[in-house]
Amino acid sequence: MKKTIQILQAKKGVEKITAITAYDALFANLFDPYIDIILVGDSLNMSFGGNQDTLSIGIEKMIYHTKAVCKGSKEAFIIADMPFGSYQSGDMALKNAVKIYRQTHADAIKIEGGIERSELIRHLVHEGIGVIAHIGLMPQFARFEGGYKIKGKNQEEAKKLLDSAIALQDSGASMVVLEGIQAKIAKNITENLKIPTIGIGSGIHCDGQILVWSDMFGFFERFEPKFVRKYLDGSSLIKNALQTYIQDVKTGNFPSLEESY
Ligand code: KIV
Repeated sequence: MKKTIQILQAKKGVEKITAITAYDALFANLFDPYIDIILVGDSLNMSFGGNQDTLSIGIEKMIYHTKAVCKGSKEAFIIADMPFGSYQSGDMALKNAVKIYRQTHADAIKIEGGIERSELIRHLVHEGIGVIAHIGLMPQFARFEGGYKIKGKNQEEAKKLLDSAIALQDSGASMVVLEGIQAKIAKNITENLKIPTIGIGSGIHCDGQILVWSDMFGFFERFEPKFVRKYLDGSSLIKNALQTYIQDVKTGNFPSLEESY
């Protein structure tokens, strides 16, 4: 059954929501039957594009990858990230979100930012765009903030996060991603919202969890954040298989008669 926002919201307090990123049809197709949400995250600019941060990806590339993910997926709820610089005003955000909606089958778009995004999100929701908010550690702000900083470390930050989450909910956001937030602060936010929270590096109390696929399957070797659990040693598996292939080619063991026409 196709996952809708109504189905996902009904899981709050009943059953945890599962989410993962994907950037292409191949992996979307693998994840789709099992997972609630697939996020076409702008993290693809780092793990797929080899860049230092998420800032340089534009709307056209996000649309290209979202189209591919939608082609590979039947049931999961698909979220497309709005890239850096694509939602600097309400009208710009609407124009780009409509572009994503028209050109892909994404079910919602995701926007980074706190209380200051409330009006912009209200504007999008009013025009029929599903919006997922994203607060806490916001990778699009990492350059400005001088790195990837955990949030909610003092009372002022904790209050700001809670106020933001409530304002974003009130402006019509369907869910909120909580990234890099102290677990007890994420718990308090989760308990004070009617909409689900999806955590990444924000502890166990969120309504759901998301991980970047290449991190959790051990393919992204550049750095390993504390919050990532490696469910597969993907890069070792690939390297070993590749070496076996190279060996087989060099020794004439591949292709065999059965693998030839
Ligand atoms: O871009 C991304 O993959 C994300 C997740 C880290 C939530 O925004």
